[in-house]
Amino acid sequence: MSAFTQHIFICGNVRTPGHKRGCCDPEGHQALREAFKNELKNAGCGPLARANHAGCLEQCEHGPTVVIYPQGVWYGHVRLEDVSRIVAKTVVGGEILSDLVIPDSCLNNPACPHRKAPGEVPTA
Ligand code: FES
Ligand SMILES: [Zn+2]
Repeated sequence: MSAFTQHIFICGNVRTPGHKRGCCDPEGHQALREAFKNELKNAGCGPLARANHAGCLEQCEHGPTVVIYPQGVWYGHVRLEDVSRIVAKTVVGGEILSDLVIPDSCLNNPACPHRKAPGEVPTA
């Protein structure tokens, strides 16, 4: 059997309402992961690309967050309606979607302008 070629990790972390960092899946239904699973199947990506449930990916302020390996492409604020485009363009086509990509300057950066201090309103 062939090895997997791509993994899509979809944050499904649930936090209590009002948590200062928010969370990617407040409903806890894994709807985004299910959408990726279905779309991969529909696109014929079959057993070679997997949509994996992930815990917090530490990019909460940009969530819902998705990361695709081996490309290492990080997408933020991913909505259900973005899923088919991500599969077609990025998973199949290798293209990075500039409107969804989380900038390098935000990744793992505690000083990211989207992180808010307690009581502060985030900038985006
Ligand atoms: S809760 Fe999704 S990245 Fe932290
Ligand atoms: Zn940021």
